[in-house]
Amino acid sequence: MIRPTSTGLRLRIRLAPGQEPADVAASAERLRHAWGVHAVYVSTVRPGVVDLRLVGYDVLRQVRMPRKIEGAGLLKVPVALREDATPFIRDYRTIPHQLTLGATLSGKSMYLRHLITGLAPQPLALVGIDCKRGVELAPFASRLSAFATDPDEAADLLPALVEEMENRYDLIKDRQGIAPSTPDEEVTSDIWGLPPHHRPVPIVLFVDEVAELFLVATKKDEQRRDEMVTQLIRLAQLGRAAGIYLEICGQRFGAELGKGATMLRAQLTGRVCHRVNDEASAKMALGDIAPEAVMAACAIAPERPGLAVAGDTSGGWSRIRTPYLSLGDAAEACRNTAHMAPDLPALKPFRP
Ligand SMILES: Nc1ncnc2c1ncn2[C@@H]1O[C@H](COP(=O)(O)OP(=O)(O)OP(=O)(O)O)[C@@H](O)[C@H]1O
Ligand SMILES: [Mg+2]
Repeated sequence: MIRPTSTGLRLRIRLAPGQEPADVAASAERLRHAWGVHAVYVSTVRPGVVDLRLVGYDVLRQVRMPRKIEGAGLLKVPVALREDATPFIRDYRTIPHQLTLGATLSGKSMYLRHLITGLAPQPLALVGIDCKRGVELAPFASRLSAFATDPDEAADLLPALVEEMENRYDLIKDRQGIAPSTPDEEVTSDIWGLPPHHRPVPIVLFVDEVAELFLVATKKDEQRRDEMVTQLIRLAQLGRAAGIYLEICGQRFGAELGKGATMLRAQLTGRVCHRVNDEASAKMALGDIAPEAVMAACAIAPERPGLAVAGDTSGGWSRIRTPYLSLGDAAEACRNTAHMAPDLPALKPFRP
């Protein structure tokens, strides 16, 4: 079967007895030259059937998202384009927490911008922690339910989120008729099992420049830091069932940030790595995923901000790039959807 697409062609072929998808994949590079196309990608549809996706030109040079996107919906945001011209969808229901790394000017905030504008029209609460004094997230303040612009404010906001999470666990326990003394970890169900009118709204927490939360100048700050890190770890561990999702951005995120950093990182399933300055930074994001992914991230050129390698801890990875979106347009999208910001009593004191 041959089907033209806006970027090339799709061929669906049945394998002959004795062939396997790896045989076709091994020939992809030769087919690319024989057909004179930019790239050929092979994917398995079902046993015995593979898809060949011919891409005619470099779709990541000038990213244009397809007009009709399958699979987008509540908590599923198409944020970027893969190099095989399929949309990359950030799906919070399957990958609750994500870490986005990259050097300065690599396009992390652009990635966040797309996520926020994609989530803004949906019935959920957006919470921001932006330790760059709010310069990255402040334009979206009208849609945020809570906002912290320095570590002091974050130190107040995080416990409120943890408390909200615990209350949601109590709510789930109530519905299940389990004794309130059961530890949170043993509740297997989540908010999605509650009837819609009882279900608390999902919360997505954006943290831009996470290292600012970890760095301390004085001994006195150290205790506050340890508390914040513990709270973030708890949110990452238990948040999903309570409908709390983390989206964490930073330039580096390694053991040198201190106690708890690697433990928090291990909780963040989704990984996106933009251009980095050294291999060590790429390893922080992708090292536990695949060595080739680390190499791909190290090869990203500075002339292409927004280009990134996206992986998840199941071992797969792909090159992606966000389309350009101006800050003005993103801010306007947030202003137009400000009425969607739900009423959350626990977060009221932090409303920007
Ligand atoms: N996909 C893209 N296409 C075109 N330009 C982009 C793209 N992504 C980012 N840029 C541009 O690159 C520049 C840096 O992007 P961004 O602010 O997102 O970087 P950053 O990683 O957040 O940097 P910092 O760590 O300094 O905050 C911006 O001027 C932005 O307009
Ligand atoms: Mg930024």
